[in-house]
Amino acid sequence: MSKPRKPIVAANWKMFKTPSETADFFRTFLPVLGTLDGVDVVIAPPFPCLPAASEHAGKSIVRIAAQNMHPEASGAFTGEVSAIMLRELYVTYVIIGHSERRTLFGESDAFINRKVLTAHASNLRPILCIGETLEERDAGHIHDVLRRQLTAGLAGINAEQAIETVLAYEPVWAIGTGRTATAAQAQEAHAFIRSVLESLYDAATARRIRIQYGGSVKPNNAAELSAQADVDGFLVGGASLESGSFYEIIRATVHSSLEG
Ligand code: PGA
Repeated sequence: MSKPRKPIVAANWKMFKTPSETADFFRTFLPVLGTLDGVDVVIAPPFPCLPAASEHAGKSIVRIAAQNMHPEASGAFTGEVSAIMLRELYVTYVIIGHSERRTLFGESDAFINRKVLTAHASNLRPILCIGETLEERDAGHIHDVLRRQLTAGLAGINAEQAIETVLAYEPVWAIGTGRTATAAQAQEAHAFIRSVLESLYDAATARRIRIQYGGSVKPNNAAELSAQADVDGFLVGGASLESGSFYEIIRATVHSSLEG
């Protein structure tokens, strides 16, 4: 039986690629992607690459995401970017609360929640990232951490908005390390996340919310991960920088979702 949710595969380019490299990527990626459907494809380049990305994505199925934004519409916030600025560049998704933002830039759950609220108010779909560190997992705190990040991150978000929110479960120990969660570990965490969503909203709402897995996703592990009942696609870092490997992950996701 196939899943009741359309998978969504997103590229998180982090601080890689210039505007011209972005254009080059789209020139090779779009013909390879062709008319593949049954999946939402999103690319999150660095801010200066957003115009090139939007222009090249054009009428293709690819949607453009920002990797971050500030919760205020404007103001004296040197170095920050607002939702209305992103909307003008045809950005439709925004990654919020990535573990690198939380750990390297000190973002709190409360600050992340303000961004999630602003994203919805601005017609941007948040990709809200959550996940435990290795210390938290080893200490047996994974469920507490995920429950806290979800409850705080989604505070003030109603059921309708929750359905428009994409969650990304990214165990911090699996990001950029080559150490992927096993399919069983990913499924266990995703099922737990869905149970928390059920308690925050209701079963029907929880069933409709997409939960991506992220952390060292590669063409050779995407199929097994995406065959899991509660895995609805991926947030891909390193393997999304090259059009061939990003495409292979998308293709594996579509196939295993159809079979799953
Ligand atoms: P990775 O990054 O695929 O390179 O592990 C994932 C992410 O940080 O979103």
